[in-house]
Amino acid sequence: MARAAPLLAPSLLSADFADLAGAIRAVEEGGAGALHLDVMDGHFVPNITFGPDLVRAVRARTRLPLDIHLMITDPLRYAEDFIRAGGDTIAFHVESPVDVHATIERIRSLGARPGLAVRPDTPFETFEAYLPSLDEVMVMTVQPGFSGQRFLPEVLPKMRRVHQALEELGRPVTLGVDGGVSRETIGLAARAGAGLFVCGSSVFGTDRTPQQALRVLQAAYQGAMVDAVP
Ligand code: DX5
Ligand code: ZN
Repeated sequence: MARAAPLLAPSLLSADFADLAGAIRAVEEGGAGALHLDVMDGHFVPNITFGPDLVRAVRARTRLPLDIHLMITDPLRYAEDFIRAGGDTIAFHVESPVDVHATIERIRSLGARPGLAVRPDTPFETFEAYLPSLDEVMVMTVQPGFSGQRFLPEVLPKMRRVHQALEELGRPVTLGVDGGVSRETIGLAARAGAGLFVCGSSVFGTDRTPQQALRVLQAAYQGAMVDAVP
């Protein structure tokens, strides 16, 4: 039996920055469930991308939910700017040197969904206590900073643990996977419990159009889940 369509969230980091409107149209047509926006400050990660003004410009072009991934040193200070710019989910890193609880509370009190992103090598125990107060957990399967890296399968056992812990919570918390998601790896993440799939280079960096690339990812997901235990 075919599963429901996976929630695919194309990452604009891999799109042509001079034609973001075209990229947004293409992934809307391809059935994207959200847009993923990677914010990097050149300090928390060794790359710089964009800030709230770009998020605001994207917000004006689409009704898709905006999943903001903050790879910055001070998410507590900047969360509000990204929410006011139109972010629906604000995911920041548990490894950032801030009061994690206070940042989650700030995001929720401003009306957005709090999310926590975790680096590939961050152990489950370091963020387990935050799970009950979150709406999204973004498990990274590459080192944050750049698109186009290889998926790290050694993260899958942690993904399964997070999935199990979220199931036990008894309320819906989105489990996302970010990094190296492709037709070859989407099934691995799905079988480990992921429900939201960030995809950068596998949507914008192939010979196919983004519309076709999203269909390929959807088909690969269905193929991997068709005989999975329900
Ligand atoms: C990496 C970013 C990812 C990246 C994904 O730091 O968080 O969202 O854009 O790109 P791919 O899918 O190419 O790994
Ligand atoms: Zn990301």
